[in-house]
Amino acid sequence: MHIPMSSPDITQAEIDAVNAVLCTPYLSIGPGMMICAGVVVNPGGVIGADVILNTGCTVDHHNRIGDHAHIAPGVHLGGEVQVGAGALVGIGAVVLPTRCIGPWSMVGGGAVVLDDIPGGAVAVGVPAGVIKYLERERVGNEKQ
Ligand SMILES: CC(C)(COP(=O)(O)OP(=O)(O)OC[C@H]1O[C@@H](n2cnc3c(N)ncnc32)[C@H](O)[C@@H]1OP(=O)(O)O)[C@@H](O)C(=O)NCCC(=O)NCCS
Repeated sequence: MHIPMSSPDITQAEIDAVNAVLCTPYLSIGPGMMICAGVVVNPGGVIGADVILNTGCTVDHHNRIGDHAHIAPGVHLGGEVQVGAGALVGIGAVVLPTRCIGPWSMVGGGAVVLDDIPGGAVAVGVPAGVIKYLERERVGNEKQ
C-alpha cells in the first residue's frame, strides 16, 4: 500500500539531521510533528498533527497515531498499532502489534501493553493494567 505524505513540513534534511529513519514515501505525516534522534518509522503509517516521536522510539508498519500524541523515548510500537489523539505512551513502553491505545490515555513508563487501553485511562505495569481514569474535564471527551 502506498500512502503519500500529506503535509510534508518535515524535510529530508531535518530527518537526516536527527539520524532518524522515516519511510516517508509510504507515510502520511501531519503538520507540526516533532521528531527526535534515532527514531525509526516503518512504512504504511498515518501520523497526525503535532505528534511527538521522542528519542529512539520505533514505530512499526501501518501504525495510526492521532493528533497531539506523544510517543516517549525508547517506546516500541508493534505493527498496526493505533494510538488515539492526545495519548501519551510513556518512556520505554512496549505495545504489542494491533493493540489500540485510546485517546487521551496515559501508558506508564516501562509498561507492556497486551490488551487495548480505553480512552482516558492511566495504565501501568507488565502486563499493563488500568489504575484509574483521567477526569472527563481534562480529557475533553467521553471515556471509551
Ligand atoms: C503512569 C503515570 C502517568 C502515572 O502518573 P500518576 O497519575 O502521577 O501516578 P502516581 O505517581 O500517583 O502512581 C499511581 C500508582 O501507579 C504506580 N505507577 C506509576 N507509574 C508507574 C509505572 N510507570 N509503572 C508501574 N507502576 C507505576 C505508582 O507506584 C502508584 O502505585 P501505588 O498506588 O501502589 O502507590 C506516570 O507514572 C508515568 O509512568 N508517566 C510516564 C512519563 C513519561 O514517560 N513521560 C515522557 C517523558 S519524555
